[in-house]
Amino acid sequence: MKIIKVSSLAGASEAIPPGGNFDGVYYFDASFAYLEQFVNKLQTIIITDANVFESHHQLLNSWQTIVIPAGEEHKQQSTVDFIIGELISRNADRNTFIVGVGGGVVTDITGYAAGIYMRGLKFGFVPTTILAMVDASIGGKNGVDVGVYKNLVGLIKQPQFLLFDYTLLKTLPQDQWINGFAEIIKHACIKDAELFSLLEEQSIENFQTDKNKLAALIEKNVQIKTTVVVNDEFEKGDRKLLNFGHTLGHAIENIYQLPHGHAVSIGMVTACALSESINQFPSSETKKIKAVVEKYHLPAQFNFDKQKIWQVLTMDKKRAGNSMNFILLNKIGEAFIQPIPMDELENLIH
Ligand code: GLY
Repeated sequence: MKIIKVSSLAGASEAIPPGGNFDGVYYFDASFAYLEQFVNKLQTIIITDANVFESHHQLLNSWQTIVIPAGEEHKQQSTVDFIIGELISRNADRNTFIVGVGGGVVTDITGYAAGIYMRGLKFGFVPTTILAMVDASIGGKNGVDVGVYKNLVGLIKQPQFLLFDYTLLKTLPQDQWINGFAEIIKHACIKDAELFSLLEEQSIENFQTDKNKLAALIEKNVQIKTTVVVNDEFEKGDRKLLNFGHTLGHAIENIYQLPHGHAVSIGMVTACALSESINQFPSSETKKIKAVVEKYHLPAQFNFDKQKIWQVLTMDKKRAGNSMNFILLNKIGEAFIQPIPMDELENLIH
């Protein structure tokens, strides 16, 4: 994978290969308009959702587009079937290039549809939300939910490129800004104490009003996630750490229709409580994480139905036989994998 920073594509110069066998390219600080310079427009189909299409129709008008309904509830096989039907009707073939323009639902579903159509077309992403920029568009895990089971079906296939155009965030609603910061807080908790301190000092409003601060924050988070993925694409080890807050988070997200960031924040604070009881994680550290979660307008607690949660947890992909891999913290900036036997977990949850 090459990371290229551009303020104009002609000046694209800085390549930082983080290693691994990736051949994708990241275009940071780029403009959507550059897309025409690296895909063949006549052979490209953009997949986006109704909200993004409406907000950015001037950018998208001249492209062939497939527009899917917006919202996590549409991240289901039926939407993939719709996309495949559209690809067939447009005579898409193995030379067709697919670009997902949107948030995490769009990038996940686009990567999946592109990955299975004719056993795989090439694809790239233009993430349009904070969440997609720092997390969902990176890493190659693409798929759909099955009922309440998050991302139960999918594949791992890397995009050819990611294009980061920060001006697309201008139309992003405030609740979506907030949503994205949960993954940024997660990255800080598991990998980067310095980033955690930065988040303590700053606020969402500071990042929204200072383009350079925002660009640096996004690049930092892309680097954190990419480094983890490059070293462990198929989640045999370190990549599991990215699931911090996600085990409980995914379970409550779909049952209660919570925004992903809210669910993850609640999951992270709950995982801190588990860390306190399992490995003496200091409660003062949990307090700091709770304070940052709340500073970024995210919830730290939720009153969930333990029985329902337990049922969904037993279907989680992170369950391995009689135990579930939970991600706990040693300290802020350092996470570890702790297998918890299912019967012990059942007691802890209840
Ligand atoms: N698509 C998100 C990931 O691969 O983690």
